[in-house]
Amino acid sequence: MSRLVAVSNRLPLGDNPSGGLVVALADALRSSGGLWVGFSGEQAEEPADRLVFHDGAPFERASFDLTPTDYEAYYLGYSNSVLWPVCHGRPDLMHIHPEELEGYRRVNARIADLLVPHLRPDDRIWVQDYHLFPLAAELRSRGVTARIGHFLHIPFPGPSDMATLPNPDEMFDWLSHYDLLGFQAERDLSNFVESARQLARIEPLAEGGYCLNGQETRAGVFPIGIDTAAFIEEARHAQVEDRMRSLTGSEIMIGVDRLDYSKGIPHRFRAFQLLLENNPDLHECISFLQIAPPTREEVEAYRDIREETEHLAGRINGQFATVNWTPIRFIHRPLPRKVLAGLYRQARIGLVTPLADGMNLVAKEFVAAQDVSDPGVLILSRFAGAAETMEDALIINPHDTWELAEAMACAIRMTPNERRRRHSALLQGVIENDIGWWSATYLDALN
Ligand code: ADP
Ligand code: F6P
Repeated sequence: MSRLVAVSNRLPLGDNPSGGLVVALADALRSSGGLWVGFSGEQAEEPADRLVFHDGAPFERASFDLTPTDYEAYYLGYSNSVLWPVCHGRPDLMHIHPEELEGYRRVNARIADLLVPHLRPDDRIWVQDYHLFPLAAELRSRGVTARIGHFLHIPFPGPSDMATLPNPDEMFDWLSHYDLLGFQAERDLSNFVESARQLARIEPLAEGGYCLNGQETRAGVFPIGIDTAAFIEEARHAQVEDRMRSLTGSEIMIGVDRLDYSKGIPHRFRAFQLLLENNPDLHECISFLQIAPPTREEVEAYRDIREETEHLAGRINGQFATVNWTPIRFIHRPLPRKVLAGLYRQARIGLVTPLADGMNLVAKEFVAAQDVSDPGVLILSRFAGAAETMEDALIINPHDTWELAEAMACAIRMTPNERRRRHSALLQGVIENDIGWWSATYLDALN
């Protein structure tokens, strides 16, 4: 079996990683073994011109540092102030600076230089996410002939958002050098085809193949999953139940997200406010626990969303809190996974309300963590990739505060039979399409 070489921007070297990519890829590499290459998270004025290898089974890890200038241009700049907002339907938050695009190209070229000496001809190279779109082109120009696939963890933009990029032509050129393009949802594959049809040259070939700007590639949908069996066990053995009960004395509604403007956290706070306004009988009966670790705080839009969220939570608590009850508790830091698993299990409602999201693994973790005999209810945005396969959740439009508040009320009052019926259908999907299924299906297609 040929070796799997995964390349991503983020390489988890510490504890408690948050973010779907690292959680999923760690789960996938644990079973297949291989090499994972990524950014160490460290900035250095003069980074080493070779990869640094880190000990630790069951897979090899190798990292590189970035200069502060490259970090700013490639990660904070083009990746997270251009590609991220555009892919999440917020081109109004985009900041275009030509030197940042230059830095993005430069870092991808440098990663190719660092990687090439460690590659074998029969490796399968699996490039992850939007930080590394140009990597296949850079590797090919250095003579790499191994199979190279790309998987996009976030949504692919439709033509009108795609056209707001400073370089849509170049984007399609980057993509055309991959053997396989993987997307989270049907929505993304059709956006890719439609955007390419309007902004580049694309012709369908047989069996998911395309001729993109004169190069043959294939594209498909591979919805990512979680390590379901391990997460079920984690949740079953978590010991937080009594602690949680004594803390609140009421039912819990939980949200777990990086504090990102794409996650719709203010929208769910406003819906909770409306729920409390319209249902005085629910006061002191339900509490909202929002766990939202910081992310990309050097980018202005992320500082704004933090301020907005904290302000809103404070206002709602000021409006409704009693001496015995704090309606919203907001934890702004990462938690160990086993604690998260226990909190999900304890919650009566899981709130996953992104305005745009590739998949959203929290939706799957919430389902896996439930006690099958008394499960909680998942409220899921129709704009999460997960909504394509998790139809037994309460599917909502997060922009519609009334609909969301109504779904919260419906979840609180749902009968145990109805909760069990919905949960059992959801759990079956999360078990069948787990992380092993995702990586095996993708890598089969790449082979
Ligand atoms: P994204 O990739 O955009 O962050 P996902 O929902 O797909 O969104 O993945 C988020 C991952 O990060 C999940 O595995 C979730 O458990 C984890 N995570 C989110 N918040 C925390 C937190 N506070 N502590 C630990 N892990 C977290
Ligand atoms: O899953 C989408 C994603 O952007 C990953 O690529 C990334 O690792 C994760 O969210 C967290 O973001 P960041 O690595 O910028 O903290």
